[in-house]
Order: sequence, then C-alpha cells, then structure tokens
Amino acid sequence: MLDSYKRNINYLRISVTDRCNLRCTYCMPEDGVKMLHHEDILSYEEITEIVKVAVANGITKVRITGGEPLVRKGITDLVSMISGIPGIADLAMTTNAILLSNYANELKKAGLNRINISLDSVNPEKFRSITRGGNINDVFNGIKAAKEAGLLPIKINCVISKSKEETDALEVADFCRNNKLEIRFIHQMSLKDGQFSVVEGGDGGHCASCNRLRLTADGKIKPCLFNDMEFNARELGAENAILMAIGKKPANGTVNCSGHFYNIGG
Ligand code: 5AD
Ligand code: SF4
Repeated sequence: MLDSYKRNINYLRISVTDRCNLRCTYCMPEDGVKMLHHEDILSYEEITEIVKVAVANGITKVRITGGEPLVRKGITDLVSMISGIPGIADLAMTTNAILLSNYANELKKAGLNRINISLDSVNPEKFRSITRGGNINDVFNGIKAAKEAGLLPIKINCVISKSKEETDALEVADFCRNNKLEIRFIHQMSLKDGQFSVVEGGDGGHCASCNRLRLTADGKIKPCLFNDMEFNARELGAENAILMAIGKKPANGTVNCSGHFYNIGG
C-alpha cells in the first residue's frame, strides 16, 4: 500500500522479544534492563493474526528480529505459522547466531528463506568484549549450520563506529569474502540523538524509499524507527493500527526518545 509520500509499504519487521543472550555495548546496558512482562508480549497467535492483516494490506516481506529471536521459546513454530500465510514472498530473520547451530535446520524446514547475522568482529577476544561475553565459535558454528541448511543468502551485519576501513570491519569483510557471505556495514546509530545513516550494502536508512513498518514485541506498530509514534494493535485492532501507521509514516526519521534497538529490532 502507498503511504502519503507514495512509498510502497511492503515490508514488516517483527520484534518477537526484547530479550537477548548477548549484551552488545552499543545496544544493551550491562545489567538492569527493564524487560517486558510476559503478559505484554504478543502470543504467536496474535503475531500471526497481525501478519495476516498486514499481508491483506500490502505486506509481502517479513523479517523476524528481537532482541534475539532465537531465545524465544518455540520460535520455529512462529516461523511455520507465518510462512503458511499466502502472499509472503520473503521471510527472513536477523539473529546473533549464538544459538543458530541448534535451529538452522528446523528453521529452514519451517519455511524461513534466509538469515542475517550480526557480527562486528571475528577476533575472539574483541567479539567477547563487544558482546560482553559471547563466544565467537558459536557464531562460526551457526554460520556453518545455516549454510548447510540452505538459509541463503547469508548476510552479515557489521556495526562500525566510524568507517568500514577500521580493523574489525576489514577483518569481517575478509572473513565474508572467504566464506561466501554478503556483508553490510551499519554505522552505529543513536535513536535519542537522531543519529542515523544509510546501511552500506543494504537498504536501510534511505527515508525517501523506506518501505518498512515495525511491530514491537508488545504489539505496537511503528511507522519509523527514528520516531516515537506507535499504534497499539491490541487496543486499536491490527487493521486500524496498520492503516494509521502507514497513513502517518513520516517523510523522514528524526529522533526516537522512547524506544531501544533491543525492543524495536533495528
Ligand atoms: N546502531 C546500529 N545498529 C544497532 N543494532 C543494535 N544497536 C545498534 C546501534 N546503536 C543492530 C545490531 C543488530 C540489530 C539487532 O540491531 O547490529 O544487527
Ligand atoms: Fe543482542 Fe543484537 Fe543487541 Fe547485541 S545487538 S545485544 S546481539 S540484540
């Protein structure tokens, strides 16, 4: 469906949890994050219902994000439920891949098409420090499993602080070349300061051609990552919330003072 700036809104990003098994320095505080209560989190049935309504209103592409989507119990069930909705041409997931080796096969069987993996350094110590404790071998095993399962193409999201020429970024780029992975560089952003820029190698950050809506884990439809606006699907009904979000989608992002990457999913 076209929004008021004639952008074709056909892409829905779904955050299924605000929890994560890592604590990346630029994303999560080390401790004391206020997590959503269980009853506030949409059930898989509720998410599926919202996606059906979204598809009826022009959504053809869906991405499952978090937090970390693989920490939510039964996530492959949700993938099956969504992939079974006629009209979805592309179903993808963004994950940190820590748990991916356990799930890659199941996810593929459930109808997931492809996967994006967050990886900012291939140096084990550096990875451990950026993620505050993550083991890079889990990610390597996850990538291997995703390849074997055919979750292709695999895209690597590499967050950079200044440039793609910094050491970690160059090493991740090398790793991707050697392992037939696509790479995209994401400049570190700040929601509150309104710092955002285009994703190098990806589609994000181009406001004039932005085709996205977001669904938070607690059921709010957001027309823009860099804006506080949200429409509660439980209170308004899915269709109203989606139509209002499309109708009010701003021309471009500004600031988001209320949200976080870990509950909107980037
Ligand atoms: N700036 C840019 N990207 C971020 N992500 C999390 N926090 C930020 C930030 N401050 C990205 C991660 C991952 C996804 C969950 O969001 O790299 O790909
Ligand atoms: Fe978790 Fe991703 Fe945030 Fe890192 S960036 S803490 S992996 S949600």
